[in-house]
Amino acid sequence: AGPCDIYSSGNTPCVAAHSTTRALFDAYTGSLYQVTRGSDGASANISPLSAGGVANAAAQDRFCTGTTCLISIIYDQSGHGNHLTQAQAGYWKGPDVNGADNLASAIGAPVTLNGQKAYGVFMSPGTGYRNNAASGTALGDAAEGMYAVLDGTHYNDGCCFDYGNAEVSSTDTGNGHMEAIYFGNNTQFGGFGTGNGPWVMADLENGLFSGQSPGNNPANPSITERFVTAAVKGEPNQWAIRGGNSASGPLSTFYSGIRPTVWGYNPMSKEGSIILGIGGDNSNGAQGTFYEGVMTTGYPSDATENAVQANIVAAGYAVTSLTSGPALTVGSSISMQVTTPGYTTRFIAHTGTTVNTQVVSSSSPTALKQQASWIVHPGFANSDCFSFESKDTPGNFIQHSNFGLIIAPNNRVKSFLEDSTFCPQSGLNGQGNSIRSWSYPTRFFRHYDNVLYIASNGGVLTFDNPNSFNNDVSFLIGTSFA
Ligand code: AHR
Ligand code: AHR
Repeated sequence: AGPCDIYSSGNTPCVAAHSTTRALFDAYTGSLYQVTRGSDGASANISPLSAGGVANAAAQDRFCTGTTCLISIIYDQSGHGNHLTQAQAGYWKGPDVNGADNLASAIGAPVTLNGQKAYGVFMSPGTGYRNNAASGTALGDAAEGMYAVLDGTHYNDGCCFDYGNAEVSSTDTGNGHMEAIYFGNNTQFGGFGTGNGPWVMADLENGLFSGQSPGNNPANPSITERFVTAAVKGEPNQWAIRGGNSASGPLSTFYSGIRPTVWGYNPMSKEGSIILGIGGDNSNGAQGTFYEGVMTTGYPSDATENAVQANIVAAGYAVTSLTSGPALTVGSSISMQVTTPGYTTRFIAHTGTTVNTQVVSSSSPTALKQQASWIVHPGFANSDCFSFESKDTPGNFIQHSNFGLIIAPNNRVKSFLEDSTFCPQSGLNGQGNSIRSWSYPTRFFRHYDNVLYIASNGGVLTFDNPNSFNNDVSFLIGTSFA
């Protein structure tokens, strides 16, 4: 049985079931998600390999060969039609056209489920999905439950990496108008647990609750697992937060009891829309990774949730490689040569803190050769990827900042470590490597007017220009000049 078969047996059926990794009903054979590719704007639906099975990641890989792909729809498997699509502008505006949020890369979160490859939804700040016309989800003080499987190592303190029930207007309509899972280390909205986070909390609007009251709940632990199951449920004057390791063991209860006593949260005023990766008012500063999740009608019993957790563990989530193409060697000193016709005498270099391309050859001055030489390190945020140290400016690494590439000293701050981690893959034009940002996987090293950016294949920024994209993001890695 799948998670939603288990919820049905417990008389709390799924009214929304979202996953890019697997079917959540034993009998489900329909589409899991849709990808849209950069080369021609065409879309394809990705389905499970068999009824109830793992997503056909190979079909995505084939469809996206030699180009980029975004996850454009996450289908609802419950039959309620509660699909998630690109979140449109709310009180807060996203970075895309007309204030919409961005769509996620289709390749930012590869995993295996019992050895079979699948992709999660890796959401950078600015990314969001939503359905403001959902049907069957809880309204007012009605009972519901929800869980999500997330990446416990991908989070931040922005508002708000959520999955669950929110406002239909994409604006803050007051306390108690949301009931969603929150994951991250935000402390700005009152709630926190032990340690420095991240924590599984509940976003109840104008408040992230770690337990009964705003503020600290010592029973709510910092999460250290790579894969985390997060669960929130609520019914009249009763609610709970539970969590556990999606790869092994049971769920623990971090809170179960009465509603907050602060005004507005009892009774609740749930509105029934569905959000992923954003706050109720389209706050879009958070990051996180979503693999699967559901919302139910009715308050699931702990026993039902425990059976769902066992099902998740049995699905066998595990990490897999983030890189492909010609291999890079940690400790080596490399050059990165442009492959765009007309520019192939150029190599990635730096002038001051600006990363750019310059014409370099064996007869160039030593100083220029050194400016175009980079030492390969294990990626600071993920050791499957890489960080690049400037040969002539030791201790300074290539980092993206406002989507431009600079060299900057390693200050060991979480955001620096993430923004200086890059994952090479096979070059999009068939040559060498394309070097993807770990933290913004829709974006790749790109030369544009001979300056380096992390660019997406189409988008609102000048250097996102799709013309010449594949060539501009493909570089030949060689032995350094100096
Ligand atoms: O409750 C925290 C956040 O506050 C909500 O997600 C958002 O709608 C509001 O800004
Ligand atoms: O960086 C040089 C060129 O500038 C790129 O090939 C092109 O996309 C941009 O116009």
